[in-house]
Amino acid sequence: MTRADIQPILEAIPAARQEDARHYGVHPYFTRRPANVVRAYIERYSREGDVVLDPFGGTGVTAIEGFLIGRKVIQNDLNPFANFIARSIADTAVVSTLPLQKAFEKVRLACQDTLHEIERSDEVASKWLKRLPLPENIRLPRNSDAEFFYEMFTTGQLAGLALIKQSIDRQAKGVRDLLLLAWSASLAKLNKTFLSAKGRAESRGGSSIFSIYRYKLASQCVELPIWETFHGRYLNVLAAKEEVWKLAYFRKLRSGGKHPLNSQRDFKVLAHDAATLDEVLKPASVDYIFTDPPYGAFITYLDLSILWNHWLGFHISDDDRGRETIVGGGCELSEEHYKRSLARSIEASLRLLRPDRWFSIVFQHWDISYFSVILETASEGGAELKAAITQTGDVIWSMHKKKNSASVLAGEMILTFYKPKQARNKAVVPSRAFDGDPAVVLSEVFDACLANGVGSFTSEALFNRLIMELWHRRALGCLSLGREEFSRGLTQRGWSYNAHTHCWSRNVGDQEAHGSFTLLG
Ligand SMILES: C[S@@+](CC[C@H](N)C(=O)[O-])C[C@H]1O[C@@H](n2cnc3c(N)ncnc32)[C@H](O)[C@@H]1O
Repeated sequence: MTRADIQPILEAIPAARQEDARHYGVHPYFTRRPANVVRAYIERYSREGDVVLDPFGGTGVTAIEGFLIGRKVIQNDLNPFANFIARSIADTAVVSTLPLQKAFEKVRLACQDTLHEIERSDEVASKWLKRLPLPENIRLPRNSDAEFFYEMFTTGQLAGLALIKQSIDRQAKGVRDLLLLAWSASLAKLNKTFLSAKGRAESRGGSSIFSIYRYKLASQCVELPIWETFHGRYLNVLAAKEEVWKLAYFRKLRSGGKHPLNSQRDFKVLAHDAATLDEVLKPASVDYIFTDPPYGAFITYLDLSILWNHWLGFHISDDDRGRETIVGGGCELSEEHYKRSLARSIEASLRLLRPDRWFSIVFQHWDISYFSVILETASEGGAELKAAITQTGDVIWSMHKKKNSASVLAGEMILTFYKPKQARNKAVVPSRAFDGDPAVVLSEVFDACLANGVGSFTSEALFNRLIMELWHRRALGCLSLGREEFSRGLTQRGWSYNAHTHCWSRNVGDQEAHGSFTLLG
């Protein structure tokens, strides 16, 4: 049966609460797609035994979910720290909690008392600092509040973290990476960017690195207890591994022992530039791609991960920095670079995909020319757009949304393409240059999108609908639509925004988002 017959997912999938221990809570990272949504896509568009790739894999939601449901997965990310998290979670070499518990106990005996002494006196902490192995005191990214690495920590935090790390390196044979994962997660809480929200337990705060994407030192530094913080992260890692072990056990049982999960065989990790991934993987060797590339200038992943990459000993070359698919960062990468890199990654992905296979890409940005890059490149690469879904409910973006209401797009679009068996002769990219008056076209498009009888909707739903309408009218690459213009377009037509429900409506009473837009068709 040809896979052209697969019914595309045409509805948004409600994001489940972030309850999977294997992803949430183990280690913070910048963005993570809801695991249940990613899993549903993999299940729909691929089969057991298929090769599933995520070229911008982050902490591995795609790869881990794919692996756990019997796919051979390829996790790729330029950021070694993201790969470290993904690999450690998926690792099936250790199959029970016992070695981990034993190693943790050894580390506890070696460190706990000293840590309490270090916390009681800066003098003791300074003494320990002289004896412990520390990473080099490198310069931090330019927009950081602190100039050098050590300034990110109090003396006690620096000594305490170094002590635990030394002990893990010495004692935790076989499960070293799992304990280092817990240590690395503690690092996110034991530094001066950590702040606690008013009215919440101190330990439940977070680091500015993951909230405002900058090394901003907290004005009132919260110093969490070092051993207890590490212990908490260890329990999270334990819960994540227990979840993975349980799923692996049931899979083995169901297959009568024939198909045990084996990460060494079926969980491949690469740290390559997504734009040239076809140099290290065979063309037409992948059965499904699900990916969530960086969205322009929001997050400079390598700069922001320096705390972890540096202390964990992962080297980032200048070449890697220059290849990151972002705008800005230490290398001041241009918008042109970003678009080129995004386009090349899609081209490479399509070369890697077998014919008669599917490809999903998650994206969101106010800059509609970025959507144009994705849609045009995919189309030129012979892929047919089959579904465009507005997916809301991502916790991180929702947090920003609460603060900035209408100007933040809290949901993203999942665009799904099919690569036919036989390449079409002619790509469906705009065949002629757009020659209309941009303002008139935009106004027409607004009216066309709003004319479907929907009483109220979210900004994201309408914005994504506009993207699709502009794409069909071949005007996507030629127009710009800023957030002010978007809001003005709506208010001028009599719609108003409710900052509480995050919906636009015509009537004051009509405040729920009961309408959604059909994006394709
Ligand atoms: C949006 S995140 C992916 C998040 C991921 N979907 C998850 O669930 O954790 C994008 C990732 O792309 C990586 N990245 C940026 N430029 C890259 C490049 N040129 N090649 C490969 N990975 C890149 C970043 O390090 C980051 O982890």
